[in-house]
Amino acid sequence: MFDATGKSALAGAGILLAAALAVGCSGPQPTAAPASPASAARARWVDLPAGAEGDEVRLGKRIFDETPKYAAAFVGNKLSCNDCHIQSGTAAYAAPMIDMANIFPMYNKRAGRVISMQERFQECFVRSENGRPLPQDGAEMKALTAYVNWLSRGAQKGQAYGGRGFVKLPPGLTGGAAKGKALYAAQCAGCHGADGAGVPPVLPAVWGPDSYNDGAGMNNPPKMAAFLIHNMPQNHPGTLTPQDAIDVATFVHTMPRPKFNQAYKRY
Ligand code: HEC
Ligand code: HEC
Repeated sequence: MFDATGKSALAGAGILLAAALAVGCSGPQPTAAPASPASAARARWVDLPAGAEGDEVRLGKRIFDETPKYAAAFVGNKLSCNDCHIQSGTAAYAAPMIDMANIFPMYNKRAGRVISMQERFQECFVRSENGRPLPQDGAEMKALTAYVNWLSRGAQKGQAYGGRGFVKLPPGLTGGAAKGKALYAAQCAGCHGADGAGVPPVLPAVWGPDSYNDGAGMNNPPKMAAFLIHNMPQNHPGTLTPQDAIDVATFVHTMPRPKFNQAYKRY
């Protein structure tokens, strides 16, 4: 149904997403202010610097957008950073990378200590990418750092981007897997497959061997629901109610996925 050219057709959804932001989407309103024009301007990667600095940033963006291809040695599934951190990490409320470099080092609850931005990247490699920690001084880490630094340029140290993280879910929601299963078949399976495998790299897997492992941040129905409300279905974002989102996220997490490798639990 979707061939290699499908991605550019799907990219049009970004316009819908921008429109939803402008008029206010039907989901719960975020507590943080939407992206300021100044932040949005910083998000542009079209004006990458020329020369060696630009090449480093461009390589970082490639790794971010096509992780299994450009950081193959450290990836154990078929997901790219870009599949969750949408639009190359620039979409508000899809855990964007904008201004990220200005809020690290940061206390990390899972690690129980203050971690660097590079350690945070490693965390997504061993969990979301079901892979291995990439070396702190390796070429891939340097390039990813250069890209995220580029998206953080001009911002104030310590100040987080207005569209950071996901939208907030209303409290007290409980998901129903049976309702979620029906909703998945009607609204998600067309892209992500009845078997959850998607068509990587264009349409990512949501469960099974090509998906994130059970130690990942997304492996949590409320967290996935907060992602879904604002970002999915990709061709109609903003149409799921919070109840729909928690139902479908609950269903997705009844399905099998890779096990987190405990050897990496310090990440
Ligand atoms: C399966 C989805 C998924 C993939 C793939 C993924 N991440 Fe993440 N990432 C998340 C989630 C979920 C969070 C937590 C966001 C939150 O709770 O606000 C997160 C958080 C982060 C953060 C911290 C963001 C913040 O606001 O504190 C960074 C940095 C990050 N990821 C980098 C990466 C990089 C680099 C890659 C690719 C190597 C990657 N991620 C791949 C899901 C993913
Ligand atoms: C029109 C195709 C389409 C539909 C319909 C769709 N998605 Fe997606 N989904 C995508 C694409 C493409 C991405 C990668 C991010 C991007 O480019 O927007 C994605 C990313 C995701 C992700 C994060 C990456 C991953 O694989 O873990 C999840 C979770 C997800 N979708 C779940 C859903 C659910 C649940 C539904 C139904 C409510 C749904 N999607 C409907 C195309 C779609």
